[in-house]
Amino acid sequence: MTKNNALKIGIIIGSTREGRVSPQVGAWVKAQSQIRPATYEIVDIADYKLPLLGESGDYSGIPKWQAKIAELDGFVFIAQEYNHGLAASLKNAIDYLRDEWHNKAAGIVSYGSIGGARAAEHLRGVFGELQIADVRTQVLLSLFTDFENGTTFKPQDLHLTNLNTLLNEVEQWATALKTIR
Ligand SMILES: Cc1cc2nc3c(=O)[nH]c(=O)nc-3n(C[C@H](O)[C@H](O)[C@H](O)COP(=O)(O)O)c2cc1C
Repeated sequence: MTKNNALKIGIIIGSTREGRVSPQVGAWVKAQSQIRPATYEIVDIADYKLPLLGESGDYSGIPKWQAKIAELDGFVFIAQEYNHGLAASLKNAIDYLRDEWHNKAAGIVSYGSIGGARAAEHLRGVFGELQIADVRTQVLLSLFTDFENGTTFKPQDLHLTNLNTLLNEVEQWATALKTIR
């Protein structure tokens, strides 16, 4: 497959807690993206060690975070449900930036007891404010049927169809939005 190197999509790993399952989900998305025309990369929020916005701490990761999001054309957010909303680590990382998010496309791969549906809806509201165009198709993974013991990711095959539709939609909108940035 010839890669469309001009189109860069980040797979954003939203949770940062010790023992998190998000890297397994991100790796699954990345594996499916190998056969696609756009270039996908894992963007793990944990790597940037972002302090809570406005608090003192080590700020060295912020310019790297800003540069990474600026260079991407679209996103697949790996979103986990914490207390019926999105993880604080993801919200904090999103809040650091503004223009870097504008006019870019995003899809959501969520998980939780009911597929992370409430976290995903929460995230869609945040996207509206940041002019991130979120595609309709979503992958909703169940902690009960797509993870063994809630920890080892074993997705049911049925999710592959949705994931590929989601990636198609993200690539199409990311391509279109590139023309207006
Ligand atoms: C603080 C906290 C709150 C949670 N609240 C919910 C919830 O409201 N709904 C839900 O479906 N799962 C909830 N869970 C379960 C998480 O979705 C599950 O632990 C998941 O693996 C978290 O993602 P992570 O492993 O990538 O951190 C919660 C987990 C934590 C740690």
